[in-house]
Amino acid sequence: MYRSHNCGQLNATHINREVTLAGWVQKSRDKGFMIWVDLRDRYGITQLIFDEQRTDKTVFENAKSLGREFVIQVKGTVIERESKNPNMATGDIEILVSELTLLNASNLPPFTIEDETDGGEDIRMKYRYLDIRRNPVKNSLLFRHKVAMEVRKYLSDLDFCEVETPYLIKSTPEGARDFVVPSRMNEGQFYALPQSPQTFKQLLMVGGMDKYFQIVKCFRDEDLRADRQPEFTQIDCEMAFVEQEDILNVFEGLTRHLLKEIKGIDVAEFPRITYDYAMKTYGNDKPDIRFEMKFGELNAVAQHKDFPVFNSAELVVGIAAPGCASYTRKEIDALIDWVKRPQVGASGMVYVKCEEDGTFKSSVDKFYDQEDLKKWAEVTNAKAGDLILVLSGNADKTRTQLSALRMEVATRLGLRKPDEFAPLWVVDFPLLEWDEESSRYHAMHHPFTSPKPEDMKLIETEPGKVRANAYDMVLNGNEIGGGSIRIHDKDLQSRMFSLLGFTPEQAQDQFGFLMNAFQFGAPPHGGLAFGLDRLVAILGGQETIRDFIAFPKNNSGRDVMIDAPSAIDEAQLKELYIKLDLPQ
Ligand code: AMO
Repeated sequence: MYRSHNCGQLNATHINREVTLAGWVQKSRDKGFMIWVDLRDRYGITQLIFDEQRTDKTVFENAKSLGREFVIQVKGTVIERESKNPNMATGDIEILVSELTLLNASNLPPFTIEDETDGGEDIRMKYRYLDIRRNPVKNSLLFRHKVAMEVRKYLSDLDFCEVETPYLIKSTPEGARDFVVPSRMNEGQFYALPQSPQTFKQLLMVGGMDKYFQIVKCFRDEDLRADRQPEFTQIDCEMAFVEQEDILNVFEGLTRHLLKEIKGIDVAEFPRITYDYAMKTYGNDKPDIRFEMKFGELNAVAQHKDFPVFNSAELVVGIAAPGCASYTRKEIDALIDWVKRPQVGASGMVYVKCEEDGTFKSSVDKFYDQEDLKKWAEVTNAKAGDLILVLSGNADKTRTQLSALRMEVATRLGLRKPDEFAPLWVVDFPLLEWDEESSRYHAMHHPFTSPKPEDMKLIETEPGKVRANAYDMVLNGNEIGGGSIRIHDKDLQSRMFSLLGFTPEQAQDQFGFLMNAFQFGAPPHGGLAFGLDRLVAILGGQETIRDFIAFPKNNSGRDVMIDAPSAIDEAQLKELYIKLDLPQ
């Protein structure tokens, strides 16, 4: 038996008990006649004491040579500590060691394994197994497990069945590039790793499974960001015989359950807003609604004067930054510089201070009088003490810029509180989006999403205006899930493929299996998928998903610990019929 207890378990009730513990040496303090060692495992830290007077001589000598991260086993007696530590679960006791076994020595770790570490991101990723010994990382993994368990419990109780779908598949177009795997047994042919199990879960509905879920790895070869990894995990779900309303209810229920169980927070019914409203009001389709600062469109009240910048703009739009009328010239200039950064790309920013005495002071006083500015304040819902920030230009671009500014101001004002949760649904997404580069329509969600029946009349004439039965769940400014009601009719699915520029042959070649299945009694069905990594990170009060993944990739898609991706040898390439033609 390696241990009788773990390192987080013992307290005053165990005094005088003989125990055996095993773990890692967190640190040791050698006072000459007395040595204290902090012994750590997943569950906590227990203080060991080696006393020249009371400890066997050899054991005492051996204790002197223990280094950081050595793995040891000790036997000893639980005794009351002289100086207690109320901040530790085991702070009332220590173990007077009688036997010490070195299970494994350790090299000096390249960074300190404590909550606050001196190790930079790169070194911690290279030695991720050491990083995982630290509380912040370990706790993130435990937290992730808890969320996953609650998801499984909730969905299983509702009769959802977890079914595994294959990883070696044919490519499914979800908008990103596929990772591909060459087939040794099929010369010149490749599998693709799933970007999601989309078509399989639909086939499970055709198969009569009725309610499916899977906590599943998905793979997308896309540019990485804080909230994106090339392999990530979805809580993938599908239901048969449902309408959009049924799906929204079930998964709002799941999210509410998680917020309650994990965070102890009760959330009222989730607001639902349309995609159009989200774009006009927040400038993006994943608004953070923990704070106001809704967009006010100012064209009608700003385009009648001689300010040429506004007069020539497609859209003039502003937000009211709460309590910021007191901003100094320097603070305002900093915001102007911020919106002018290439990443945001605004050409400038107009501001109006709504003074406490009811007057207005703006950067465009030359063109607008107090009456004009009062109207601006009404439109942007600005109160005395607020600062109105206005951008103008091309409508889409300006909305995106103001949306970025809204988030930046909220961050500066501390309004993006990690312990506050404001979930919502965004519904009625457009079915298609125009892609300038390829001059054709792309499916905004994916090609299996059903158009709204009432918009079907527009499908030939104004396809861009057709709305879909598609929805996203948004939490604190992040898209944590998305889904749709699917097409279950072969003819409509074929029509969709042709709208997306597939020839009938291409559609048959890539999706013949699905359209065939639709001819064997496909039930109406729909579903959605949550991004588990994102959900966990946000519930954990963070936005970087890497911290919640045991072995994440870095920004260049590399695993620096195992050094992947890497070259493979000639023989392996040959077996796979691959000839490399690398640029010199
Ligand atoms: P979608 O592409 O919207 O839908 O993905 C669902 C959710 O997965 C998360 N997500 C990611 N998380 C981390 N890294 C990534 N690279 C990444 N990409 C996506 C997001 C997103 O909301 N098959 C459909 C679902 C359906 O229609 O049922 C799908 O995959 O949180």
